[in-house]
Amino acid sequence: FDPNHRTKDEEGPKAFITGWPVWHSRSPAIHGAWLKQFAIPGSYVRMGVPPEEIGEFFETLGESGFVGGNVTVPHKVAAFEAVERRDGDAEAIGAVNTLWFEDGALVGGNTDAYGFAANLDERLAGWADAGTTVVLGAGGAARAVVHALLSRGVERVEIVNRTMGRAEALAARFDRLFPGRIAAHGEEERAKLLERADLLVNTTPVPEKDPDDETPDWFPEPLPDLSALPDHALVTDIVYTPLMTPTLLAAKERGLAYADGLGMLLHQAVPGFERWFKRRPTVDETLRARLVADI
Ligand code: ATR
Repeated sequence: FDPNHRTKDEEGPKAFITGWPVWHSRSPAIHGAWLKQFAIPGSYVRMGVPPEEIGEFFETLGESGFVGGNVTVPHKVAAFEAVERRDGDAEAIGAVNTLWFEDGALVGGNTDAYGFAANLDERLAGWADAGTTVVLGAGGAARAVVHALLSRGVERVEIVNRTMGRAEALAARFDRLFPGRIAAHGEEERAKLLERADLLVNTTPVPEKDPDDETPDWFPEPLPDLSALPDHALVTDIVYTPLMTPTLLAAKERGLAYADGLGMLLHQAVPGFERWFKRRPTVDETLRARLVADI
């Protein structure tokens, strides 16, 4: 299996993913598998571009022969600024992860909120009926999550973040779009908020292992304390390395229903593939298993 699947026909439609670094991206494995499945003579390649060159990369994209591509960390805001038009999700989130051309103009969309919601639709039926949702973290990924939550109808979003100012900025952004349904909190309020959470979403990274620590099977300890959550609470994490994050392990220990973050990555790829290659792929267990084997 070649994650950079290319057919011999170099004339087929070409799409890319850009980021810095971009070697770790799983997107080539996803799009490569779909190209093969549909026998489309096209390709999806990694384009590592450092921040100082990303402006020029977007400016010259029209002459590159690409039909479009994906944008990942740290270029999603630069892409937002570079495009001539944006879809509604990109406008709300303030970041672009998918690019394509319309009548020669570079257009940007954001499929992260779609991917988040589609994954939960598949794995945690009824999630959008949540009254209160607690979101841990207030970074770039949390923006897409909050947009998905509020636009799909959860009543209230409580942001909990280590840095209060970032939680407030995120809440202010979405309070303009969905007035009175979002609030910001510091970490000291976490346990109290969990008591009324119907849905918990973690967007903060798993701590990295100290390279000098030689403990085998190292894992961050202790697990997050989810004892305050009600028994009906649903839990999800957008991090998928490892697949079972500390938050998900804690949910499992409590016997709560949970969904891992890999499905979000798979589902967010669907709208881009359909735009560039004109076929709508499905997210199936075979593809999921292939990615899990690589994590
Ligand atoms: P992403 O695009 O994945 O959201 P990000 O924009 O860097 O990445 O945001 C990371 C989020 O995880 C932030 O909310 C960050 O908290 P701060 O705003 O206080 O920096 C949170 N985060 C990262 N490391 C953390 C840690 N060790 N403890 C608590 N929160 C952490």
